[in-house]
Amino acid sequence: MSDSVVTLVSKTEMAKNVSEEDKLYRYKGVLYPHIMCPEDHLKRMESFQAREDDIVLVAYPKCGFNWMVGVLRKIIAATKGMNLESKMPPLIEFFGPDALKIVEDAPSPRFLGTHMHPDNIPSSFYAKKTKMMVIFRNPKDTLVSYYHFFRNNPVLPSGQSWETFYSNFMSGDVPWGSYFDHVLAWEKRLDDPNVMVVTYEELKQDLSKGIRLISTFFGCSLTEAQVQQITEESSFKAMKQSSSGLHSLGDVVFRKGEVGDWRNHFTAEQSQKMDDAFNKHLAGTRLGAKLNYQQHCQ
Ligand code: A3P
Repeated sequence: MSDSVVTLVSKTEMAKNVSEEDKLYRYKGVLYPHIMCPEDHLKRMESFQAREDDIVLVAYPKCGFNWMVGVLRKIIAATKGMNLESKMPPLIEFFGPDALKIVEDAPSPRFLGTHMHPDNIPSSFYAKKTKMMVIFRNPKDTLVSYYHFFRNNPVLPSGQSWETFYSNFMSGDVPWGSYFDHVLAWEKRLDDPNVMVVTYEELKQDLSKGIRLISTFFGCSLTEAQVQQITEESSFKAMKQSSSGLHSLGDVVFRKGEVGDWRNHFTAEQSQKMDDAFNKHLAGTRLGAKLNYQQHCQ
C-alpha cells in the first residue's frame, strides 16, 4: 500500500475516536473537516510557495474533482513522461503541515489540487501566475452528490437527513463553504488568462473536446490517439473499476456520474428554492450562464 493510502486509512481510523460534533470546525468563518484539514495546516498553507509550472486543479466539493484528477494525471503521464498514478487526490489542504512540506520539496512539475475558495488559495499562486483549471457543476447535482458523500464518509458527521443537509448546503454551512460564494468569486477571475473554467456537464457531453482544451491550456500537446485513449480510460465505468479496492472511498467518490440525479431527490419546493437562490446570486453572471442552469436544472 502506498504512503498516501496508508494516510487515508489512518485518518479514517482516527475518525472513530472523534465525536460527531468535533468532526467539523470553522477556520476564518468557513467549515472544514478537522481530521483532514487541521487548523495548523490551514495556517501554514497561507505561506505555501507555488511555482509557475505547477499544474493546479480547483473544484468546489463534488463538482468532478476526482474525475479531472484522473484526466490530468493521464495528460501529464502522456506528455511529460511522469507517472503520477497515486491513488490519493493531490489536495494541498489535506493531512497536516508535514504533508505540505513534502509537496514543497517535490520536483517540478507538481500536480496540485484544492477545494479552497479562490480568495483562500495561497497568494503565491496568483503572484507566480500559476495556471489553474477550475471545474464547476450545476448546484442541484452538486448538492445531491455532496449529500451522499457526507453520509458515507467517516471523517464527516454521520446521520444528517436529506432535509438537514439540503438546508445546510443552501446556507453555506457545509465544508469549504457556500457554493454560490465560490462561483461568484471565480466570476471575478474569469478573464485571468491563467484561469480556465470548465463544467462537469460540458465534459459529460464531449470529454474528448474537454481533454483537448485542458491539455492546450496547460501547454501539453496530445496526439488524437492519446486524446481518444484518455477519453476511454476516463469514462465513469473505467474510473470506477480502476478505483475499486484501492481508494477506500471509491464507491462513494464514483457513485453515479450522471447529470440530473437531482430529480430523484429534490421536492418541488426544494427545487424552486434552489431556482430562486440561483437567480438571486448568479442571474446575469457569465459563470451562471456557463452552468446552463435552465437546461440542467429546470
Ligand atoms: P455523483 O455523486 O453524482 O455520482 P468529486 O470528485 O468532486 O468529489 O465529485 C464526485 C462526483 O463526480 C460524483 O458524482 C462522481 O460519480 C462523479 N464522477 C467521478 N468520476 C466521473 C467520471 N469519470 N465521469 C463522470 N462523473 C464522474
